[in-house]
Amino acid sequence: MGIGTRHIICSLLASFINAQVVQWDIARRERLGLELDTRQTRSIEEVIINDKLNGGYFATCNIGTPAQDVTLQLDTGSSDIWVPASSSGICTKSSSSSGCVLGSYSAEGSSSFEDAGKGDFSITYVDGSRANGDYFTDVFEIGDTAIPDMTMGLGLEANIPYGIVGVGYALNEATKSFIYPNLPIQMQHEGLISTIAYSLWLNDLDAGTGSILFGGIDTEKYKGDLTRINIYADPRTGAFTSFRVALTSVQAISDSGTDALSSKEFPVSVVLDSGTTLSYLPTDLVSQMWREVGAVYSNDVRAAVIPCSRAASTGYFSFGFAGPGGPVINLAMDELVLPLTLGENQPLFDFGPYRGQEACRFGVQSSSAGPYLLGDTFLRSAYVVYDLYNNEIGMAATDFNATDSNVVPFEDSGARIPSATVAPHQDSIRGTGSPNPPTYSASNGFQDDHENSVSAPAACRWFSVALAMVGTITWIIAQGVIDSTSDLHTMDML
Ligand SMILES: *[C@@H]1O[C@H](CO)[C@@H](O)[C@H](O)[C@H]1NC(C)=O
Repeated sequence: MGIGTRHIICSLLASFINAQVVQWDIARRERLGLELDTRQTRSIEEVIINDKLNGGYFATCNIGTPAQDVTLQLDTGSSDIWVPASSSGICTKSSSSSGCVLGSYSAEGSSSFEDAGKGDFSITYVDGSRANGDYFTDVFEIGDTAIPDMTMGLGLEANIPYGIVGVGYALNEATKSFIYPNLPIQMQHEGLISTIAYSLWLNDLDAGTGSILFGGIDTEKYKGDLTRINIYADPRTGAFTSFRVALTSVQAISDSGTDALSSKEFPVSVVLDSGTTLSYLPTDLVSQMWREVGAVYSNDVRAAVIPCSRAASTGYFSFGFAGPGGPVINLAMDELVLPLTLGENQPLFDFGPYRGQEACRFGVQSSSAGPYLLGDTFLRSAYVVYDLYNNEIGMAATDFNATDSNVVPFEDSGARIPSATVAPHQDSIRGTGSPNPPTYSASNGFQDDHENSVSAPAACRWFSVALAMVGTITWIIAQGVIDSTSDLHTMDML
């Protein structure tokens, strides 16, 4: 599916390596390298609509001989590694553009570069980001782990200034005429891991760092038990191409009540996509979520917005998967209320019941058609194991800020996810029939600020958010690009 809105910058650093697992720490960064040319800086709306303010999880890698440093975004929604070429327009452009501050790759500068001889590389992500060029092979290195002949794309022409590490199914590679062993498969071929599987722990929005563990699970990073659920094949082709699972219930829970939300789409086929910042669910379901929390659609921002103060609400949503007895993940409001700008001050609501309050973006947006995506606003609250061999996902509630570690490797190729039980009723999931709207008994409890006792405004009304500070906000973003390059930390061993 690819990079959607909030991009993950991963600081891919090998924290530890043994015969069976490889772990990289990843760091969340605001999305960098906005194209600040005159066409694009005309309005902050444009920036917001393109979701360029959003972050992602990134990792620092080395490619080639001698090693060239590149920081790449980790993406479960795509399946290729690609890097921007140092000679590409986006990296060489000077003046208002920041160039490729996260690094680029020069084929001429690497004695181990080889043209893969396999034709053109061309990838387009769901948010319109794209890169074109050639396939090549070279050494791909993370920490002490070197993969000698990794096939990668070279972005000779791209509209994003940093590359991606896609860790999805090989069948979802951007190639049209051939399939090559992508990173998770190549790691197994190299004997670094015993099976094609990894676990992703994004951690708290405020913590900013997480980890990806290839070949194992870490039982200290989640609470309760891991539950295994099926990944669904593409209904048209029958092939496994994305991490599509069955979302079977959503509840809104607060101290004023509990509501079971409904959708004519249940069970909703949702794709777990770490390369997407927000989550996108069916309109009927999302309009109920917005009404519960008092989020409103802003025509200016073209997204649902909410007073930033609602991050402190103790209300939460409970997402259930794979039917009764399947995994349940709670999403707290502080994980669902996200800034609209990088500056200290958020735009203000300029009319309506929230007039004068700071406006934030709500983490679940509506989509009138699939694919529905659960991005980082969901994934931070879950510990997710991706088993590409058995086509299963393991899921449990994350343990935010966990500092202990207990790594359990997969036993051998094809082994099931360790310490996980299977969802008992996933083979008898069915639709819920005609949806009944909830009573919104939980709604009052989401308004912890109690700014008024009026029920939440109807979600369909358009709200205006003042976006007058275009110049200022843009400048802050440009500064952010420059400043943030220096603070990409090397993580300590876990
Ligand atoms: C995790 O750590 C961050 C930063 O140290 C902190 O802001 C956040 O509140 C912590 N989260 C939890 C759930 O403890």
